[in-house]
Amino acid sequence: MIGCALLFWFRKFTVGRDQDGTTVGAWGPNEVQYMLRTIASSVAFGLAILVAGDSSARAQTADQAWLHEPSHLFLFGKVIALGSSPIEQSAVQELSRSISHPASVKGGASLPRSWRESTLTVIGTTEEVHEAYPDFPAPSLAPGEYWIWWNGSAEHSVSVIAGGDERGALYGVFALRRLPVSGESFPLTNLQNLHEVPLREHPAMPIRWVDQWDNADGSIERGYAGRSIFFEGGKVRGDLKPVSEYARLLASVGINGCNVNNVNNAVQFLDPEMIRGLAKIADAMRPWGVRLAMSVDVASPQKIGGLATYDPLDPAVKAWWNAKVNDIYALIPDFAGFTVKADSEGQPGPASYGRTPADAANTLAAALAPHGGVVLYRAFVYNHHLDWNDPKADRARAAYDIFHPLDGKFAPNVIIQTKEGPIDFQVREPVSPLFGGLTQTSQAMEVQITQEYTGQQRHLVYLAPLWKQALDFDMRVAGRSTPVKEIVSGTSFHRNLGGMVGVSGVGRDAWLGSPLAMANLYAFGRVAWNPNLAPEEIAREWTRQTIGANEEVVRTVVKMLMQSWPAYEDYTGPLGLQTLTDIAGSHYGPGIEGSENNGWGQWHRADHEGVGMDRSVATGTGFAGQYPLAVAKKYESAATTPDNLLLFFHHVPYTYKLHDGKTVIQYLYDSHYAGAAQAAGFVRDWETLKGKIDTALYDNVLPRLEYQAGHAIVWRDAVVQYFLKLSRIPDEQGRAGHYPGRLEAEDARLDGYQIVDVKPWEDASRGKAVSCDLKQPMQREKQPSCSAEWTYEGPAGRFDIAVQYFDLQGGVAKVALTVNGQAAGMDATWVADAMLPTRRLHGDNSTRHIVEGVALKPGDTIRIEGTPDGSDPAALDYIELIPAASNRH
Ligand code: GCU
Repeated sequence: MIGCALLFWFRKFTVGRDQDGTTVGAWGPNEVQYMLRTIASSVAFGLAILVAGDSSARAQTADQAWLHEPSHLFLFGKVIALGSSPIEQSAVQELSRSISHPASVKGGASLPRSWRESTLTVIGTTEEVHEAYPDFPAPSLAPGEYWIWWNGSAEHSVSVIAGGDERGALYGVFALRRLPVSGESFPLTNLQNLHEVPLREHPAMPIRWVDQWDNADGSIERGYAGRSIFFEGGKVRGDLKPVSEYARLLASVGINGCNVNNVNNAVQFLDPEMIRGLAKIADAMRPWGVRLAMSVDVASPQKIGGLATYDPLDPAVKAWWNAKVNDIYALIPDFAGFTVKADSEGQPGPASYGRTPADAANTLAAALAPHGGVVLYRAFVYNHHLDWNDPKADRARAAYDIFHPLDGKFAPNVIIQTKEGPIDFQVREPVSPLFGGLTQTSQAMEVQITQEYTGQQRHLVYLAPLWKQALDFDMRVAGRSTPVKEIVSGTSFHRNLGGMVGVSGVGRDAWLGSPLAMANLYAFGRVAWNPNLAPEEIAREWTRQTIGANEEVVRTVVKMLMQSWPAYEDYTGPLGLQTLTDIAGSHYGPGIEGSENNGWGQWHRADHEGVGMDRSVATGTGFAGQYPLAVAKKYESAATTPDNLLLFFHHVPYTYKLHDGKTVIQYLYDSHYAGAAQAAGFVRDWETLKGKIDTALYDNVLPRLEYQAGHAIVWRDAVVQYFLKLSRIPDEQGRAGHYPGRLEAEDARLDGYQIVDVKPWEDASRGKAVSCDLKQPMQREKQPSCSAEWTYEGPAGRFDIAVQYFDLQGGVAKVALTVNGQAAGMDATWVADAMLPTRRLHGDNSTRHIVEGVALKPGDTIRIEGTPDGSDPAALDYIELIPAASNRH
């Protein structure tokens, strides 16, 4: 019980700092030391639950994420590294951050005698432990694995954090830091027994990488958190401190590789000066055990090498790659390898020469192999000029069609990197059948941490449950149990490489921009380390470290996280429709027809009679047949396809009944209303945390959730209006197409405002808005603003007035709400300064502002005045009067 008693005991502390900056309990260092000595006789590690520090408004550091200082761990005695590698020094440093009186020293296996006799924690590889303490039972460990053990001696207490390699030792330190928050996955009770039962864990898979899609100019493809931490103006940045902080964050959850540049626009990264810059990035990440990788353009030998060809089988091309790779290793000896996007979305590839992906991958692999590097060849290869009129054409088939025949033809250091679904990071897709189609090839699952199709960090969407269901999916290859997590970890088919890659998109704006989105980065590392961890448990760990350990706080935040993906799916694209967004544009707001009628192949084929894409073998594209037999059989028939994927696999009438008897169309209506209600619920959930968590964090997140609740209504109304019009089947509950309390802008008395059509029509209420497009300077001078007026005709009462408007980039328009000429409330004047995608009126930038508790009586004049600015025309969709007592959203 000692571990538990300590936990309880130390909870009483508040955090303070003594003069030299060391973290101590409020009782001061002496009392703490005394207490630690007292307990030293019976336990190696002491724990303290410490209050998380303020993470806001500081330079970009790992502390802005889950690595608050001080950690929750309290350790005593000296901490030393047995070796002198930078990674072990990081491990010492990391542990020392948590110690009352840290004493870290550089290593060397021969310890001063006096130290051998004092209380020590030693950090090192198993070899180093053997050498320093031949009688300690350190086992041999795999790379990345750690072993934490105590020698059981009260007088000369030695605790050991050993790793199969230096990274393993570092991961052991982070595991210790995490211990008090790890709950079921790492029971605290184990601490009491470290002598008999050491803590030992190994990563499930060797490849645990993040991919950045950063461009040399400092922009980030599909990044939603500012500019690159790596590059600016075509060069590597001078200030690489954020890079080492990022590496520390990554290491803390076991990530061991980082590919720093975009899979598109990669060619300039092989330039000699750029390679010198990349070497600096590698230096910054190395102390945290994160190896640098890069994306390459397979046409480089021609584009920058001066060769006439980039045919991967041409000897001159092979020689060029060999020489280039040698140059890289001369500067970056632990370079991890290349990521390749080829023959895809306009990127050149081996197909230009009639060669296969195996030919291209193997040429690169041959150059990397002598140095220990690998090739991550992406299976995201498809033709984006498909014929929409061809009922057999199907983008989902592409990866399997191209890569399955090549199984067994890839060099041993090639890993095929496959997105978790066959399309493109949609809110829901089935697992890619390619995972079951490569049994003689190493594989990695690619997922997105950056929320491209899942709300772009403006919406709360915790993605671990999505990844987890892909990982847990049993492919039934050859009729036996082959969960995807065991395929990618290499165990199903005895591959010694494999893993997970997360497209992370961190930038200079607090890593991922939104504080709650950081749960996804955390979860990615944890899932890649151990795909058996439950998303809820990971959410709990993250919340305790990042937001607070108070049980009510943890319960609330974890509930929000766990509900967020299902809610987003409900209001964007349920039943396997995928995210119903404009796929050729921003990938953000509603755009139901955006994926139809083009060559990109992300079709759902909605028409007047029905909806869904027939991918069956019998009557459709045959995609279902790419899965192993048992799975193929399940997806072949609509009756056995799970409802949440029905429309991915089948085209059915709107009246088709789901497993619970509800029709498809009614489900579409219901899920959108339920999802939007859930998003509104997140605001109320968060509001219960006021005063219980860090104020800056509270204030940062609240408006984001309010925005999400409003945007969920935009989504709801767009999808519901669209399917109501198309199917002509009314909503049984009478909600679709009926908006009580809504006053349309186009019905108002307008002064200066012009009625405009919004495209796509479903993105605005009744397809129309009003826009104050005062283009001429003269006109603006004469009339700087426009107005819309309504006469209130309902019963007297108090209302929250939701103003639905379009906040366009390129100007900060002003909006004011008055009643009978008076400001309608405290926040009745506001500015449209959000940075939302798309520069024309669209569901991307339709947003709402709510003025609460406005008193209205019959005959009152409600007026909106919009003052355009720059290219923002202060456009307005509608206002909605919501009785003040009811749900705000
Ligand atoms: C998505 C994304 C692109 C990206 C591509 C990829 O389609 O929108 O920006 O390049 O995926 O994974 O290569």
